[in-house]
Amino acid sequence: MKHLLKMLDLSKEEIIDLLNLADQLKYEQKHKIAHQHLKGKTLGMIFQKASTRTRVSFETGMFQLGGQALFLSSRDLQIGRGEPVQDTARVLSRYLDGIMIRTFAQKEVEDLAQYGSIPIINGLTDFCHPCQVLADLMTVREHKGRFEGLKMCYIGDGNNMANSLIVGGLKVGMKVSVACPKGFEPAEEVLSFAKGYDSFVLTTDVLEAAKGADVLFTDVWSSMGQEEEAEKRRAAFEGIYQINDRLLEAAHRDAMVQHCLPAHRGEEITEAVFEAHADEIFDEAENRLHAQKAVMVRLMA
Ligand code: CP
Ligand code: NVA
Repeated sequence: MKHLLKMLDLSKEEIIDLLNLADQLKYEQKHKIAHQHLKGKTLGMIFQKASTRTRVSFETGMFQLGGQALFLSSRDLQIGRGEPVQDTARVLSRYLDGIMIRTFAQKEVEDLAQYGSIPIINGLTDFCHPCQVLADLMTVREHKGRFEGLKMCYIGDGNNMANSLIVGGLKVGMKVSVACPKGFEPAEEVLSFAKGYDSFVLTTDVLEAAKGADVLFTDVWSSMGQEEEAEKRRAAFEGIYQINDRLLEAAHRDAMVQHCLPAHRGEEITEAVFEAHADEIFDEAENRLHAQKAVMVRLMA
């Protein structure tokens, strides 16, 4: 593994290795056991979109590993004034030991990896969110103790989260069912990957998707960059594509609920379900730190 660009690039073995290392690093952090694998190293973090979790967990994670992180807002970089990503990649490769980037086009992340000579980590694009899904898988395994035989359900927009959860869930051996409104399906590339699995279901019917599920995921109806489509999207999702008590009744009685956050209560998830499952959801947020530390150690140590 040279980069973390998308879940499609990882083998099952690489995913499990990252999750095992993340568990170990979490244990070491909780027990104050030194784990400074990245002493003297610097991670650059390029943000073209807002972030709370990704920024703080990468920066803190890098510090705990003995290195440092630089917050690079695209507003202040020459990239924001049109300097090509190919040049940015080659320049930053001379200073840094790794780059985390959050941007719009997946191609920009792939170009950074192609032109640079240091590891590139995708911190969210319109296409995918692999760091989040590694944390999600870590959290599911932590709570359920396994993947085999579990059913993962995703309700809502076929967005970056759906794209990454489908691939990650299927690769580790879960059944995956997804309910999206017509016209808001996951990416073609992901659906053609999923077609190879009997355990994958795509439907518009939320109850069918949630039936017997062990873990229910959702995400916002409008992602960053889709603000102008918000009304059209609301019309397509409202009243149906929501994790609520009715959906939880259809799921397994011990079903967990996950949300990458930020959440819009009353839209994709009810306040009551969110609060009833808050411990699982904030474990998921915490695990961003541990999962990303594992990614950085594997790529940069
Ligand atoms: N889930 C997630 O990526 O959160 P941020 O947008 O706050 O980084
Ligand atoms: N789908 C959301 C995820 C935010 C972490 C977005 O892209 O805005």
